[in-house]
Amino acid sequence: MVVKIFIWALFLKLAFSANDDFTYNGFNNASLLSLDGLAALSSDGLLKLTNVSRHAPGHAFFSLPLQFKKSAADSVISFSTTFVFAIVPEYPTFGGAGFTFVISPSKNLSYASPNYFLGLFNMTDNGKPYNHILAVEFDTSRSPEAHDVDNNHVGIDINSLISNQSLPAAFRSDADGQLKNLSLSSGEPIQVWIEYDGLGMQLNVTLSPLWMPKPKHALLSLTVNLSSILLEHMYVGFSASTGLAYSYYYILGWSFKMDGKIPELNLSSLPPLPQTPTSFKKSKALSIWLPLALSVFVLMAAAIVMLIMVRRKRFSELQEDWEIDFASHRFSYKKLYKATRGFKDKYLLGVGGFGRVYRGVLPASKVEVAVKRISHESRQGVREFVAEIVSLGRLRHRNLVQLLGYCRRKGELILVYEYMPNGSLDSFLFSEGKQTLDWGCRFWIIKGVASGLLYLHEDWDQVVIHRDIKASNVLLDSDMNGRLSDFGLAKLYNHGAAPQTTNVVGTVGFLAPELVRTCKFTTSSDVFAFGAFLLEVACGRRAIEANEQGMEQVLVDWVFAHWRMGKIIETKDPKLGEDYVVEELDLVLKLGLFCSHPLPSARPSMRQVTQFLNGDVPLPPLLPYQHHFDCMQKL
Ligand SMILES: *[C@@H]1O[C@H](CO)[C@@H](O)[C@H](O)[C@H]1NC(C)=O
Ligand SMILES: *[C@@H]1O[C@H](CO)[C@@H](O)[C@H](O)[C@H]1NC(C)=O
Ligand SMILES: *[C@@H]1O[C@H](CO)[C@@H](O)[C@H](O)[C@H]1NC(C)=O
Ligand SMILES: *[C@@H]1O[C@H](CO)[C@@H](O)[C@H](O)[C@H]1NC(C)=O
Ligand SMILES: *[C@@H]1O[C@H](CO)[C@@H](O)[C@H](O)[C@H]1NC(C)=O
Ligand SMILES: *[C@@H]1O[C@H](CO)[C@@H](O)[C@H](O)[C@H]1NC(C)=O
Ligand SMILES: *[C@@H]1O[C@H](CO)[C@@H](O)[C@H](O)[C@H]1NC(C)=O
Ligand SMILES: *[C@@H]1O[C@H](CO)[C@@H](O)[C@H](O)[C@H]1NC(C)=O
Ligand SMILES: *[C@@H]1O[C@H](CO)[C@@H](O)[C@H](O)[C@H]1NC(C)=O
Repeated sequence: MVVKIFIWALFLKLAFSANDDFTYNGFNNASLLSLDGLAALSSDGLLKLTNVSRHAPGHAFFSLPLQFKKSAADSVISFSTTFVFAIVPEYPTFGGAGFTFVISPSKNLSYASPNYFLGLFNMTDNGKPYNHILAVEFDTSRSPEAHDVDNNHVGIDINSLISNQSLPAAFRSDADGQLKNLSLSSGEPIQVWIEYDGLGMQLNVTLSPLWMPKPKHALLSLTVNLSSILLEHMYVGFSASTGLAYSYYYILGWSFKMDGKIPELNLSSLPPLPQTPTSFKKSKALSIWLPLALSVFVLMAAAIVMLIMVRRKRFSELQEDWEIDFASHRFSYKKLYKATRGFKDKYLLGVGGFGRVYRGVLPASKVEVAVKRISHESRQGVREFVAEIVSLGRLRHRNLVQLLGYCRRKGELILVYEYMPNGSLDSFLFSEGKQTLDWGCRFWIIKGVASGLLYLHEDWDQVVIHRDIKASNVLLDSDMNGRLSDFGLAKLYNHGAAPQTTNVVGTVGFLAPELVRTCKFTTSSDVFAFGAFLLEVACGRRAIEANEQGMEQVLVDWVFAHWRMGKIIETKDPKLGEDYVVEELDLVLKLGLFCSHPLPSARPSMRQVTQFLNGDVPLPPLLPYQHHFDCMQKL
């Protein structure tokens, strides 16, 4: 009997240890790895989770499933893993979203959205218990939807991108007990230990710079019963996705152990990281060619100096001492000049209220960008404005057009934005001949814009007032998400930094009546403009346009009049045909009127607006109010 048990135990142990631990000191010719998406092994033995392709995920899993529970009802066995990673972003200030260590029931995460969910989830399954996903995220962007603490944090995620616990990346020094910050995307290798104690049900995550022994104190320590989260058999691996910009995510080495001490990595046999992509490759030929090249250089020097003088003038920029803090957000004019092929008309995307916008492709990285040239003569307020631009560049939301940086020349400010392939919403709504948007798409865009504006108003460190919401300031990305652009720009003009602007800048038809009196933009003046925007999208008409008699027709008043007659649905865009959801259309039109209320205090907040749009809270009945231009006189 005893022997039988012993043999049985031995068998169990063997069966179990067949694949319950592994060590990769580098990934040279590594076996038992399943890669998909952008993930690949490099020739020098690095596991790369992504490459320079944009908007795509990459996954790398250990090919065999691991047994995390003895049986489905059992509790989770202790496990531990350690790995060394390095993140090299395309640009110092922005890059991909981050990567995760993941434990998943399946190696096939092809359902994951390519953009925003770290290659783990999509819009519908994010947050759902049926995912059975445990991940530790190393996140280098701050996304408001995930309630991220900053753009350099580590978090424990259970079935959702909203972390159960997260902290800025750091380690606690054994020497003095102080927390020392770590920059995830510094390009330097960082070692991570993730340990779960099955008995104490404690999940620990510890980080440290490479070569430093494991700190005694974990950074994250979460007590969680994983029994209902992890299934009996699970796969372990890594996941990442690239957004607009990318980072290289390298895993240099990785070991995993079920129920026992983690096998140490041999740090000296880890593969080296590639030099920065632009670094100069040394070659033998150099020593032969160098003397020759030098003499050619001397001969050419004079010519070059002359050329430089010409080019310096062409590429001259304005740069002052205070801008040193913003250096990482600054693009050189030369780069932008190259990106837009010298600002050729062929690349002109449009001429807006603030200046001309060009399409460009950044030379080295091939990122598509929109480059906006704004002329302004006054130096006054520029410093504040640039500081603000830089801080707006930190705003990240899927419904905002990301500002990437700026450049300054004499009399000119140049802003660089991410490029939106589908152009502006107003061209879809109002241009003849362009394919019209169906109702589902319009409702999706409306909800997106509302969520972007809510973020500006309430969810960021400071309140950002957009000041110029309208269909032409809503751009559409490749997935037809509505994205607000130009936020904060009107402020430059309202500050008086632009020539001849003493009055309020904004767009007639979207300006809240109180602005005429106070000239003070508030979140409720944005809500007013958002109301006019809702009506534009639902009615397919501009906020102000000439009617059949050539009279100026204010859209809000026109819809309002129909509502009074109980015929609000008749104001819908005829191009929609019969293909719309009447409840949604009714909601959007009424909400448009509600937001356009002449009294600021009677308008809803953007938080309420999103609740109405999501159907979380019913729209209160609309009360008749005064024709808004009458009201303006009374104010
Ligand atoms: C990996 O495989 C290649 C070709 O199969 C071989 O030339 C190389 O030496 C191997 N490298 C290691 C580290 O085993
Ligand atoms: C990135 O990786 C994918 C999949 O391996 C590949 O199809 C694509 O060509 C790569 N992109 C670049 C720019 O190398
Ligand atoms: C992953 O799942 C999708 C959807 O079920 C399927 O189309 C695809 O073939 C699967 N990929 C692999 C590699 O199994
Ligand atoms: C999201 O993923 C789930 C599986 O996890 C899939 O059933 C669903 O269709 C996906 N949704 C989208 C919008 O891709
Ligand atoms: C944290 O983990 C539990 C599972 O134990 C989950 O139900 C909960 O929603 C998670 N999320 C947050 C933000 O706490
Ligand atoms: C470490 O990072 C946190 C959060 O980003 C920050 O508040 C703190 O000032 C940093 N500490 C040091 C010493 O840089
Ligand atoms: C997790 O961290 C806590 C606090 O640092 C420590 O007391 C505990 O022993 C750790 N558990 C494991 C499994 O490492
Ligand atoms: C952990 O959760 C499982 C299933 O939800 C439950 O059966 C078990 O009793 C829990 N363990 C503890 C120690 O609470
Ligand atoms: C670690 O790797 C180095 C270089 O490959 C090798 O010389 C050394 O013997 C290894 N150490 C151990 C303990 O395996």
